[in-house]
Amino acid sequence: MTERLWRGCLTRRGAVRAVAGFLAGSPLVRAQQDPFRDHSRVPGLGELKTTFDFEPVAYAKLPRYTYDYTSYGADGEFTLRRNREAFDWVDLAPRSLAAGGRPVSTGVEVLGTRLEYPIMVAPSAAHAALHPEAEVATCAGCAAASNTVLISSGVASLSFDKIAASTKAPLWYQLYPSRNMDDNRKLLDVVQSSGAKAIVVTVDQQAPVFERIQHDRNLQRPPGGGGGRPAAGLNLYGVSDRRLWYEWKMFDELRAFVRLPILIKGVMTAEDARLAVEHGLNGVYVSNHGGRSVDYEESPLEVLPEVVDAVKGRVPVLVDGGFRRGADILKALALGAAAVAVCRPQRWGLAAYGGAGVQRVFEILQAEFRLAMAATGRTSIASIDGSIVRTYFP
Ligand code: GLV
Repeated sequence: MTERLWRGCLTRRGAVRAVAGFLAGSPLVRAQQDPFRDHSRVPGLGELKTTFDFEPVAYAKLPRYTYDYTSYGADGEFTLRRNREAFDWVDLAPRSLAAGGRPVSTGVEVLGTRLEYPIMVAPSAAHAALHPEAEVATCAGCAAASNTVLISSGVASLSFDKIAASTKAPLWYQLYPSRNMDDNRKLLDVVQSSGAKAIVVTVDQQAPVFERIQHDRNLQRPPGGGGGRPAAGLNLYGVSDRRLWYEWKMFDELRAFVRLPILIKGVMTAEDARLAVEHGLNGVYVSNHGGRSVDYEESPLEVLPEVVDAVKGRVPVLVDGGFRRGADILKALALGAAAVAVCRPQRWGLAAYGGAGVQRVFEILQAEFRLAMAATGRTSIASIDGSIVRTYFP
């Protein structure tokens, strides 16, 4: 009887076999047996073939907050999406035989600055958050990519004179004017003597709302509770009053000490385009600040034709917002832009691979643009006209 019980009992060998079986099935051991189970890798620079490819690499390398800062759009991000979607509402109608064997030439001059391609870098803040070499790396990438022009941000990580000293590539300067005109004059004296070739005054982000903390402040609800009271005086809307004082006469005041072409960035209507020309501005830059300011704005590409119409060739029209491919750039030029500016892809390139990443992003755009020109039978920038596009804007 006892013997029969023993026979049915767990033997030493049986116990060892059971434990081994359990361990073999355990995820811990499986991980050791299969070191590639969670395999992932960041692709090398040479593997990135479109500007889109840079975004996941930037995402992998940046802290989440910094990635979010670059990627966000205002509120429900309808305008952010629309900026990109608008390119789907413009078809290309190739005139393939028009090239007639001529080589494609992509050079153009805008307000006295020679561009090898009608593609510039849009101003964007604080490149040090993306790469330790900050704007110096951006400039190195721009210089290596056929001297692409950087519109250097007024809220850059480095001062403009330092950025300018680091590069031979041409630079424009983006300004958020200060209320005190004397401060603007002092700043612009340095900017002009450091070699900037144009001043881009931004009016498309009057009340920044990105940071959740800032958003709370704007709504008068400081984080952690406590009902803030609307500030007195100029701060009418409970948002920072840094830019709410802007009005057209500001441009007349700036003109007094700016020797360079002045552009206004943030025009989204024919009416403002006309006023800009009336105030003697030298260029109109169509932008909704990358969909980061006011949700439910139209996309810059949609309003571009009406702005071009209003300006009547008196000044060049620039545009940014959602440009990711060479064909996007061709579409904007066909709708009347003199050049386009590219923002997020430059930031992804910088975050992903520093100056070399920026260089590659612009080389890709340049090569795609040249291809798009050739494919539609365009051999010079001047030959790009409305005959190669059909628009289906809503
Ligand atoms: C700054 O201008 C931003 O868009 O975050």
